[in-house]
Amino acid sequence: MSQTTVDIVIFGGGGDLSLRKLMPALYRAHVNQELDKSIRIIATLRSVSNSADNGRDEFVNRIKQALQKHLQAQEFNPGHWQAFSERLCVVGLDIVDTNKGWPELSALLSLSDNTPLFYFALPPSVYGTACENLAEHNLIHPDARVVLEKPIGYDRESAEQINNKVGEYFPEANIYRIDHYLGKETVQNLMVLRFSNYLFEQLWDSKSIDHVQITLSETVGLEGRAGFYDNAGAVRDMVQNHLLQLLCLVAMEPASKLCAKEIRAEKIKVLNALRPLTGDDIKQNTVRGQYGFGVVSGCEQRGYLDELGNPTSTTETFVAIRAHIDNWRWAGVPFYLRTGKCLQQRYSEIVIQYKPVSHRVFCEDAGELCSNRLVVRLQPDENIQLELMTKDLERTDVHLQKMSLNLNEGSKQPSNIRDAYKRILLDAVRGDSTLFTHRDEVDASWKWLDPMLDYWQKSKDSPVEYSAGTWGPTEADQLLKKDGAIWRNPKNGEQSQ
Ligand code: BG6
Repeated sequence: MSQTTVDIVIFGGGGDLSLRKLMPALYRAHVNQELDKSIRIIATLRSVSNSADNGRDEFVNRIKQALQKHLQAQEFNPGHWQAFSERLCVVGLDIVDTNKGWPELSALLSLSDNTPLFYFALPPSVYGTACENLAEHNLIHPDARVVLEKPIGYDRESAEQINNKVGEYFPEANIYRIDHYLGKETVQNLMVLRFSNYLFEQLWDSKSIDHVQITLSETVGLEGRAGFYDNAGAVRDMVQNHLLQLLCLVAMEPASKLCAKEIRAEKIKVLNALRPLTGDDIKQNTVRGQYGFGVVSGCEQRGYLDELGNPTSTTETFVAIRAHIDNWRWAGVPFYLRTGKCLQQRYSEIVIQYKPVSHRVFCEDAGELCSNRLVVRLQPDENIQLELMTKDLERTDVHLQKMSLNLNEGSKQPSNIRDAYKRILLDAVRGDSTLFTHRDEVDASWKWLDPMLDYWQKSKDSPVEYSAGTWGPTEADQLLKKDGAIWRNPKNGEQSQ
């Protein structure tokens, strides 16, 4: 593994991602003593002058406020903050202006032997310019690493351009394409569950599994990111990366070794085996929606078009897809994927729905016989449950009862303090790229999604409207109903509402 004494340079240090996710993650790592003492955190932002100290102090104060806002109440501690702030350096820098701040950044980095870890918390359109300026100032030495945020590109072609451009400056091994979903502990637990239990080794294919559901449901709307979101939509924002990465981990073959090269190779095979969706298949297998007015968590929510201030946008805020993986393991098993904004509850989970037993031996009076189900919950709580049928022990007759085995009973740490960004940033610091995506994964996922996005763009249909605060368009329920399946939603546990 590579050197862990790095200097973390966050380009776009004053942006939303930096203040909401990166700084809290780094603060937590600092408090847990997971960052080497020599590591400096260098935030670059345009609005600070390098000659006056007051801009710097003001920005450091903004970081402090962001931590107080985004950390859990008991996590912020003035003593820790003091030590953390001593790691912080601020550089006023303009990504596109090679003179503004780049010489200062270069001078700052030359004060230490640490390997630079450049985090591009920037729009992908300026990744190339950032690389050019890094090279011009001789900041890319052979060990320098770069972390890229998703989505990489807008489609296959633009992703390739970005990957080619960054690849001119950094070798693939030093490029860390982040997907914070892979930093969630339960996602990694899924790999342990699959690859260290004989039970699941034997029961993980089309012979045993009826279908798989992956839901990433959010209650938030635009959150002040209208400019970004309206150009992206649910597919680019959530499916191309988080959802397809989860699908890969569920569907991939066991890697012979738990290392980046082997795992990535298996994930790429899954993406390449996704049955292409073109033309009419898209109509039959996808539903795209856009939220209208409704009530989310007790508060009125304006419709998307109203919130956006553009009555003609056809950007999807919800999508449901029926996918198939055409290989030996998964032939005939539908993978139902869905994600959306302004839905009824915030929750993410993977449901492995097993087939029914081949013959019912109990009489009708014994009650409902439910098929086994493995539910991997990523949020709001991280949890794995195995649903099994047992006998109701309170009764003398044989009465069937569904019970859940909770596989996370032992976990003591509150899940809201487990921070996916921290985990993934620390991996980048250690030089472990196992949980980062290879450019071929990015390419394969766009290859599958491009026809869908093209089709929608050309079609005259608009996304179907759903009321904010519901589970999305009823068409998404129909998509499963055709196959005799039903989305698993929280609360009622079984039924779509
Ligand atoms: C981000 C998306 O990648 O993931 C956001 O850009 C989304 O739109 C977020 O809200 C969800 O992340 P999490 O960890 O809160 O589920």
